[in-house]
Amino acid sequence: MIIDHLDEPLPGSSLLPTPTGDAYTDPDIFEKEQAEIFEKMWNCVLRSDSLPSPGHWKTVTVGREEIIVVRSRREGIKAYFNVCAHRGMRVCTAGEGKNKTLQCGYHAWTYALEGDLVAAPNLTSMPDVDRKQYGLKPVHVREWLGYVWVCLAEEPPNFEREVLGEVRTRFGEVESIDNYGIEHLRLGDTKTYDVAANWKLIIENFMECYHCATIHPELTEVIPEFADGLASQRKNGEVHGSSFGEEIQGFTVDGSASGVHQLPAIAPDQDRKYYAITVKPQVFINTVPDHVIIHRMFPVSESRTIVECDWLFLPEVVDKITSGELDVSKSVELFHRVNLQDFNACELTQPSMRSKAYSSGGALVPSEHHIQEFHAWWYRTLGFEQVAAAQQETEKAAV
Ligand SMILES: [Fe+2]
Repeated sequence: MIIDHLDEPLPGSSLLPTPTGDAYTDPDIFEKEQAEIFEKMWNCVLRSDSLPSPGHWKTVTVGREEIIVVRSRREGIKAYFNVCAHRGMRVCTAGEGKNKTLQCGYHAWTYALEGDLVAAPNLTSMPDVDRKQYGLKPVHVREWLGYVWVCLAEEPPNFEREVLGEVRTRFGEVESIDNYGIEHLRLGDTKTYDVAANWKLIIENFMECYHCATIHPELTEVIPEFADGLASQRKNGEVHGSSFGEEIQGFTVDGSASGVHQLPAIAPDQDRKYYAITVKPQVFINTVPDHVIIHRMFPVSESRTIVECDWLFLPEVVDKITSGELDVSKSVELFHRVNLQDFNACELTQPSMRSKAYSSGGALVPSEHHIQEFHAWWYRTLGFEQVAAAQQETEKAAV
């Protein structure tokens, strides 16, 4: 992989280089990403209200691990590695369920929802077995925006600084994300996309709007400035809102009124505007005046990523959707089409990452500078800078 001169323009042009194609196809690099990024950072895994009462659990994949997320009786939402402390069998073998305890189906070792080992055949004849030590191995959990976030690291990065701080700083004081009251919103619709592309292609696509005029006719109709290829971010990293077109009545597939009241606490500045930010490594938050769209990515392999996309509305709106009084399909359809258009582009890019024509990488135009920052973070996080430095040392030594 060619990894030096990342922030120097390509010869004779204002273009910046990208990583080489193998960054998107090499299983060893993907393995390293799982270990150094997804298994060390905070991942947003599921909605808190999808575990409505004690005993409800779901399994999710984070990095190379399967995790049980469960609403306990006494300690709120907890998360554990889905590995029996006895002989390692998967404790939960379905995607979700509801149980009073979590029991392994192999030798019936049984765990409280709070994680301790509470029963096992002949356990009373082994009084020296420490019920905590042989409990389920816990994973760090936080709740924010109505979602459960987990971190597999022994020492997780500071959530306030790395997640909350990052998001709030980028939204800015006036354009506070808090005004949207996302934690009080409920799920109006959700869609899962199985995308045959590397997760980085999906992030890179989300970070620029250079492609909007080409592949997003509906979105550029609603937000005309996207036709100029401007992403909704300032050079200093803060987002600014992208304004709806003058004739546009709502953030819907045809620009007609959505029929949904706007969120009660948004600032005048946030009216008729769309904001988008990326929370590394796997979340995109999109806000419009009357709903919020949140994407969560789950990388499966170097060439496959599952994307879950939620459309969140006020509880009273969701009640009306459920009772059939209100139809928000025109709102949902807009970003669903954007998703399909984006993921199609990513899927048509992925095979080329193996091409000889891309073996030394591609190029970024100046308006795609956020991607260059993402690449710099990626190199740094995977420790490729040291590799680059070591390579240079080796080359020097050879000379
Ligand atoms: Fe797009």
